[in-house]
Amino acid sequence: MIDLTLVSSRPEDDHFLFQVFTAARPGAGAAWGLAPAKAEDLLRVQFAAQQAGYRARFPRAEFSIIHRGPVPVGSMIVDRSGDEIHLVDIALLPEFRGQGIGTRLLEVVQTEAEAAGLPVGLSVAKDNRALNLYGRLGFCRMADDGVYLKMEWRTRNGPPRSGQGLSCGGRQDSRR
Ligand SMILES: CC(C)(COP(=O)(O)OP(=O)(O)OC[C@H]1O[C@@H](n2cnc3c(N)ncnc32)[C@H](O)[C@@H]1OP(=O)(O)O)[C@@H](O)C(=O)NCCC(=O)NCCS
Repeated sequence: MIDLTLVSSRPEDDHFLFQVFTAARPGAGAAWGLAPAKAEDLLRVQFAAQQAGYRARFPRAEFSIIHRGPVPVGSMIVDRSGDEIHLVDIALLPEFRGQGIGTRLLEVVQTEAEAAGLPVGLSVAKDNRALNLYGRLGFCRMADDGVYLKMEWRTRNGPPRSGQGLSCGGRQDSRR
């Protein structure tokens, strides 16, 4: 069993959150043709805009730092204010990916959703490898705007879907 905890993020976590943000954009500076210092300046502007955007769009969301044991390994944002549990974002530092942490955290969210009788929703870029994970966990493709997919998971015991699911990966309740 992986020893994971979620701790509410505080302003002093911004340095760590920026590390997680930049780790998700490897080689950005080179791709922009900028010197490292200039690239970092631009990444800082993008990071601030992303954080402000999340806080504006999801003012009641829970912003957490993911710890494995005592070590901060990533961040997760979950909004419970609507008619679904919305996974706003989840990101791990590269060295902690592929070890089952994302699976474990999403299963906990699914268990919570099942108990509350709510679906879990998220958006993901169509070219993001995380699609494999969401498919394995039984998330269904509900909408496609060409760049992002809107995905949803419902427990088998929940109410029927209102929209037309495009396709579902794995079983609808993959945890059983
Ligand atoms: C997506 C993420 C949170 C999953 O957590 P994890 O602990 O790595 O996931 P698990 O080990 O439980 O499952 C492995 C799956 O994670 C996903 N994953 C692993 N590395 C990844 C990466 N660099 N980028 C995106 N997804 C990745 C894949 O779907 C992988 O399945 P696959 O090997 O069949 O492709 C984590 O990989 C990550 O932080 N990725 C980068 C940020 C990101 O893309 N976040 C999703 C935003 S919607």
